[in-house]
Amino acid sequence: MAQQFEDKFNRKFYYLRLSVTDVCNFKCTYCLPDGYKPSGQKNSSFLTVPEVKRVVSAFAECGTSKVRITGGEPSLRKDFIDIIDTVSSTSGIQKVATTTNGYRMEKQVADWKQAGLTHINVSLDSLDPRMFHQITGENKFTQVMAGIDRAFEVGYEQVKVNVVLMKDLNSQELPNFLNWIKDRPIQLRFIELMQTGEMDDLFHKHHVSGVAIRNQLIANGWILKVRAVNDGPAQVFVHPDYQGEIGLIMPYEKSFCESCNRLRVSARGKLHMCLFGDHGVELRDLLQNDLQQNALMERISQQLQNKSQSHFLHDGNSGITPHLASIGG
Ligand code: 5AD
Ligand code: SF4
Repeated sequence: MAQQFEDKFNRKFYYLRLSVTDVCNFKCTYCLPDGYKPSGQKNSSFLTVPEVKRVVSAFAECGTSKVRITGGEPSLRKDFIDIIDTVSSTSGIQKVATTTNGYRMEKQVADWKQAGLTHINVSLDSLDPRMFHQITGENKFTQVMAGIDRAFEVGYEQVKVNVVLMKDLNSQELPNFLNWIKDRPIQLRFIELMQTGEMDDLFHKHHVSGVAIRNQLIANGWILKVRAVNDGPAQVFVHPDYQGEIGLIMPYEKSFCESCNRLRVSARGKLHMCLFGDHGVELRDLLQNDLQQNALMERISQQLQNKSQSHFLHDGNSGITPHLASIGG
């Protein structure tokens, strides 16, 4: 193995989030409230399968063992199965995950599994179909729920479900959600709403801290799970009476960035150190043939020396990220 990717703060990067498209067919109010609009970047297509192969191989050489395929909505890529297959067959990659809005899951999840997808995160912001429609702009609650059921049927042992916490919208649904995971091996992850560049008053209207949920969980006998070395920033709670787990993702808490173990590559091949605030470093010129793998690893490794210790969200500075679909939430 080549030198492992590591930054100035001794954080190691075993986890790559790879976006394969900016396109999404949902209109989540916190992400793409007006739906996807092509950015007008000329001559700039999304990473091809051979480019995906090269970028993932370089990361794997330098210690990355987990890849999450994100978007936009990754399953909108016609060659999504090919992409999964390419990532999962790369030597050194042990976990291949995706984050999906779930609308194609019922039909396709068996094929995803077959191609080597080991973990699934699906977004489901409400258990009330009308609220789901209001938050995501799509009346697809039933399809997404059927997709989750299907994932269990085809053999996934656990499914992670993302809920973006929003005051006055889904913030009162904790009891329903708890009920739902009582007998289901779901890790339900409440994510605090994050402010991005294109969001104006939505954040101020609907941001609510996860602290209230944490307090309710603790008061009801939920126990914080001890973190494993390679765990991400979620705080995970378990309860003896529940098959499911609860994860809290609170990017506004002080220590959030300490456990950062991930790097991002955008759908057009730029390396991002952080979800927030950096311009991205071009990698694509080094993805055109197999001869430049060493140069690619060298460039990534050098850029890591610039990774900041923390984001600046606390100061209301969300960097240049217009919305998370552009960089792969
Ligand atoms: N705040 C928090 N989470 C977000 N996501 C997208 N935009 C935001 C935001 N502004 C997350 C959601 C979704 C995933 C694709 O990205 O959790 O499930
Ligand atoms: Fe699409 Fe995900 Fe953004 Fe919703 S959050 S609009 S599903 S990319």
